[in-house]
Amino acid sequence: MDDSAPLYHVVADDLATLIASGALPPRARIPSVRRLALQRRISITTAVASLRLLEQRGLIESRPKSGYFVATRRAPAPVPEAVSLPRTARLVGAEAMLKRLAEASANPVMARLGQAIPDPALYPQAALRSSQMRALRRQPELLAIYPARMRGSESLRRQISAHYAHVGMALPADDLVITNGCMEALTLALRAVARPGDTIAIESPVYFGFLQLAESLGVKLLEVPMHPRDGLSVEALRELLGGRSGQGVRACLTIANFSNPGGSLMPESRKRQLVALCREADIALIEDDIYGDLAHDGSRPLPCKAFDRDDRVLLCSSFSKSLAPGVRVGFVASGRHHDSLRALKQNLSGATALLPQEMLAEYLASGRYERHLRRLRERCAEQVARVSQCVQDHFPAGTRLSQPQGGYVLWVELPGAVDTMLLYDEASRCGVDFVPGAMFSASGRYANCLRLNCGFPFTAAIADAIHRLGELARLAAAV
Ligand SMILES: Cc1ncc(COP(=O)(O)O)c(C=O)c1O
Repeated sequence: MDDSAPLYHVVADDLATLIASGALPPRARIPSVRRLALQRRISITTAVASLRLLEQRGLIESRPKSGYFVATRRAPAPVPEAVSLPRTARLVGAEAMLKRLAEASANPVMARLGQAIPDPALYPQAALRSSQMRALRRQPELLAIYPARMRGSESLRRQISAHYAHVGMALPADDLVITNGCMEALTLALRAVARPGDTIAIESPVYFGFLQLAESLGVKLLEVPMHPRDGLSVEALRELLGGRSGQGVRACLTIANFSNPGGSLMPESRKRQLVALCREADIALIEDDIYGDLAHDGSRPLPCKAFDRDDRVLLCSSFSKSLAPGVRVGFVASGRHHDSLRALKQNLSGATALLPQEMLAEYLASGRYERHLRRLRERCAEQVARVSQCVQDHFPAGTRLSQPQGGYVLWVELPGAVDTMLLYDEASRCGVDFVPGAMFSASGRYANCLRLNCGFPFTAAIADAIHRLGELARLAAAV
């Protein structure tokens, strides 16, 4: 979100926070226009614009002659159920599926419900630009020097370390290697612990970037079922590791905080159990914390790394979702693999560009990140709530829906034997995109599921697209 947001947006955001926190519960009366103007020392026009904005976002509704009230929400749809997964590890063919998706989504008139990309207006573009200028003023030679350190800018590593200290865990700056986005962090982590032909236990359904990565590195994947709310099933992993298929497992890969696509959050007790199980089985744990800062309720869950006592957890993340998707800066907390990660980084891409790193370090040092996150989280919460509501209104009876507590993707399970790969072909012809469920499995599961991106403000066009998708799903389910 840009720092230069108009005043009525700021007032609307403050009211949205009160609504999201429950301080203003469903059906509560909202202050009148006059009262709001007085309370906030703003003009009547600004007060009206704030209330209209909240109404457009579906957070409040007007009642004739009575004023504005917090909108009521219907009971949520049931969450998707776990499916049975193969108990053997396999190589995946994610690349071919991704190519198909990219070809189909080449149509520019799409509803932006596909890839997990947020609205650029959600990010503090003006403040980032001035941080970049400050970085260049402070180090005028920045563009002309070769980065000396493979592990990245010291000031950025210190800021990342300070951020995690604020969250409540120690992540020493010296343990961090700065990377080109989270994908490079994951690539390094995976290469540090596994060789081609090795097996990695992976939560399922899982972000398709992992599948693509595993395919390119030639590692086999053993899918571990997830609980819709609590994330990867530690019990199922324990059972798999004890069986024949679990013998060659080198590492486990999870998104414990707000998984993609399911949105689940692993409770702290389970994170402890997972780390302990990895210790028992002597395997590495690779953790993707890219959505950790995006809790809808404003809390900040600890990563599994916080419970790591013997440096076996490789924490990977980036600023791509939380602050600046365009800078391609991520990091991996390397633990016992520090030396090999630095060597791998040198081989893979050399050092990461300095200017974006110093810009981020300046921005983080300015103390504005928390304020930005507060607004971003509210927007994510609101957009997810609007899309969820619309899906419940327009999708066929029996549809199940995730209830993400963070991030901005929704996981939808359709009733009947619907194949969302086929549905995608039809929907894309009408300008509606999404990601078919089979993209999130190494074994082609979830054919009747799909993922929706909620990264953009909810508009009539998005509502219309969801309505059309619901109609197509209804027809497909009836066949
Ligand atoms: C869970 C997860 N990890 C990693 C990435 C990729 O991150 P980056 O763009 O920083 O490489 C994504 C992008 O959607 C993601 O959802």
